[in-house]
Amino acid sequence: MTLEAKLEELERRKRESELGGGQQRIDRQHSEGKLTARERIALLFDPGSFQELDQLVVHRSTDFGMEKQRIPGDGVVTGYGTVQGRPVYAFAQDFTVFGGSLSETYAAKIVKIMDLAMKNGAPIVGLNDSGGARIQEGVVSLGGYADIFLRNTLASGVVPQISAIMGPCAGGAVYSPAITDFILMVKNTSYMFVTGPDVIKTVTHEEVTKEKLGGAETHSQISGVAHFAAESDEDCLGTIRELLSYLPSNNLEDPPHIATRDDINRVDAQLDTFIPESSNQPYEMRDLIRTIADEGHFLEVHQQYARNLVVGFIRLNGYPVGVVANQPAFLAGVLDINASRKGARFVRFCDAFNIPLLVFEDVPGFLPGTDQEYGGIIIHGAKLLYSLAEATVPKVTVITRKAYGGAYCVMNSKHIRADMNFAYPTAEIAVMGAEGAVNILYKGAGGDREAKIAEYREKFANPYIAAERGYVDEIIEPRFTRRKLITTFAMLRNKRDRNPPRKHGNIPL
Ligand code: HXC
Repeated sequence: MTLEAKLEELERRKRESELGGGQQRIDRQHSEGKLTARERIALLFDPGSFQELDQLVVHRSTDFGMEKQRIPGDGVVTGYGTVQGRPVYAFAQDFTVFGGSLSETYAAKIVKIMDLAMKNGAPIVGLNDSGGARIQEGVVSLGGYADIFLRNTLASGVVPQISAIMGPCAGGAVYSPAITDFILMVKNTSYMFVTGPDVIKTVTHEEVTKEKLGGAETHSQISGVAHFAAESDEDCLGTIRELLSYLPSNNLEDPPHIATRDDINRVDAQLDTFIPESSNQPYEMRDLIRTIADEGHFLEVHQQYARNLVVGFIRLNGYPVGVVANQPAFLAGVLDINASRKGARFVRFCDAFNIPLLVFEDVPGFLPGTDQEYGGIIIHGAKLLYSLAEATVPKVTVITRKAYGGAYCVMNSKHIRADMNFAYPTAEIAVMGAEGAVNILYKGAGGDREAKIAEYREKFANPYIAAERGYVDEIIEPRFTRRKLITTFAMLRNKRDRNPPRKHGNIPL
């Protein structure tokens, strides 16, 4: 064979791989509003940076006529490239090849890039679009999944792991994304469930559509499995790029600094009157977060789930900060099971990856009721407490209004190692609200109830008793919040703290 012919042979093999399951199946993918695996990879990475590995790998199956259907690449595109100039490893499942189903060799390709990512300390992004275990291969396919699950677990807290669900993801296959740090789903074209509608109908006689059972809206609003619900493949991949911009490449690095043009001394006079005069009146916590953030930008995580707690990323003077905030505009910002789980997961992610934490507190307490108690609010609420207490990253709290009861302790109080606690003059720090307190203190007693409520409010509905004790480090004028937080996080930049040596703590799961 001439040299020229050899090069042509290589070219032909690569072209064959790039065509995946063929033009017809690519057209079908497009007609369903989905991009192909390679189109997705092209949008995820910086242009021209992606280096594909194992493009010529084929499966080894000889059953069910599989020996006659060998497509180079075997249904998954794997490799590495850069996102905003930093290395990232990725796999993209190709639904056009055997429905993106996972074979032994396909799993080995994913395992190879996961091992590389771990060795080299870079994030792993998985783009999922698959019919699950390759039915023709049986147990070797299941073994391949387990090999991936193990690596997801070992990589947890070492390199960021992001999963996008961009088509089917069912059965045990859901457990790889579930172990990763963030799940994004695309509206109308993706779904995730452990058992599908047909099995559910047989077992429980319930009738439910795929979308209702496990679509993007279900998982981003009801179950909380998905952190983001994207409008389209393009939107999903853009969000992954943005999310990565806040994250360090691994647990030994600091998150990336991006210079800002926003004035670090910016004063927002309207913040002085932002908190309503009546302590029962709601306000939009996200407006406060945006006001103090660089360029007013807030990447909210879990936007539609447990809306009584807001979590997400901002930058302050270019440095990423994870924000956890009660949301007075939804259920008065009360803490319940879902909000506690949401907050705890986010806090642990930030702590694992050296992202400082900022807590805005306006919380009336934990939600009462049998639903909550039977659902285990004791254990779930403890998750939030535990995660904030164990976190060793810089931790700062701003009490904007209510800090009542156990929620005062939980929401990053000084007692659980918050570095700095600030309060607005509108803060109310007490065991409970004035009315509840009077009901208990003066149960059955006569007298002027309103006067007693006013007296309790006067005495406790303020930040000064906490400030006298040093539980609050400073009472600040709201207009200076941005400047105060920037100088505080700068002061804490070299913070060193550690937990006692142990195999691992036992967070109340
Ligand atoms: C082999 C598969 C496949 C699979 C789909 N295909 N799933 N091939 N193994 N698991 C093939 C189809 O034969 C078809 O091939 C092509 O992919 C596209 O599939 P369609 O059915 O035409 O597509 P669509 O109508 O969009 O339906 C998609 C689907 C459906 C809902 C995913 O294909 C389906 O139900 N597949 C089986 C899902 C499943 O039961 N998987 C195993 C789950 S158990 P052609 O040649 O016609 O294009 C599991 C365990 C994991 O995954 C355990 C981990 C611990």
